[in-house]
Amino acid sequence: MASSSTLSIPESSDIPQHLAIIMDGNGRWATKRFLPRTAGHMRGVQAVRRVVEACGERGVEYLTLFAFSSENWRRPKEEVSLLMRLFMQTLEKQISKLERQGVRLHIVGDLSPFEPRLQEMIRDAQARTAGNNALHLTIAANYGGRWDILQALRKLMAAKPELASQPDAIAESELAPYLSMAYAPEPDLFIRTGGEQRISNFLIWQLAYTELYFSDDFWPDFGAKELDAAFEWYRTRERRFGRTSAQLAR
Ligand code: FPP
Repeated sequence: MASSSTLSIPESSDIPQHLAIIMDGNGRWATKRFLPRTAGHMRGVQAVRRVVEACGERGVEYLTLFAFSSENWRRPKEEVSLLMRLFMQTLEKQISKLERQGVRLHIVGDLSPFEPRLQEMIRDAQARTAGNNALHLTIAANYGGRWDILQALRKLMAAKPELASQPDAIAESELAPYLSMAYAPEPDLFIRTGGEQRISNFLIWQLAYTELYFSDDFWPDFGAKELDAAFEWYRTRERRFGRTSAQLAR
C-alpha cells in the first residue's frame, strides 16, 4: 500500500509519478463545430490514446483518468449509452496493445450498475494486464470520491467491527488501505481540461496535497504538447507538504 502524504513526505521529481486527469470539454468541442456531443466523446478517445502514449514515453508511472462520474448518469440516455459503448469498444480494441506495451489496467468505481458483459470485459482486461508494470492506467468509471471514502469505511468496519466501540482508534492509516486506489501513491499532479476549476468529486481523499493544473483546452484537443506545458508548470511548483520554504532550501 502507498503511504499517505499526510503521514510521510513523498520524493519530488520533474515528472509526476502519478498524474490524475479530469477529461472535460468533449461536448463543447463538438458543439463549437455544430456536431453532436457524442462526436466529442469519440474524439476524446483519440486524446486518451495520445496521452497514454505520451505518459509512457515520459516515465509517468500511474495515470488515472476520470471517464464517467457517478453524477454522469443524469445525462440524456443516448449519451450515457454511447459512452458505455465507446468504453466497451475501446477496451476491446486497445487491450492487446496495452498488454504488449506493459500497461497494467485498473478500473475503479462502483461497477455494479454496468451491464454484465461490460463487467466481464473489465475483469478480463484487468486479469490480462495484471503482470504488467510499465504504466498503471486507472480508469475511474461510475466513480465518486465520497463513494470511495464510504465504501472504504464500510469495508474497514466489516473487517474490524471492534472499531465501532473505539472510534478514536480509527487512524488515516487504517482507512487508506480500503480506498479503491490503495495500490497507487497519491497523485502529484492533477489536470482538468475544459476551463472549469473544480475537483467534481474526483479523488477527494487522495488529492489533498496534489498540485492542481487547469487547462482551457477542450479534452479532444489535448495531447503531448499540452501535457508538456502542464509538466513544465509542475516543475515550477514548490511542494512543501506543510513545511516552510526555508526548510526546503536546506
Ligand atoms: C467530459 O466532457 C467527458 C466525459 C464525461 C466522458 C469522457 C470519456 C471519454 C474521453 C471517452 C471514453 C474514455 C475511455 C477511457 C475509453 P463533457 O461531456 O462533460 O464536455 P462538456 O463539459 O463540454 O459538456
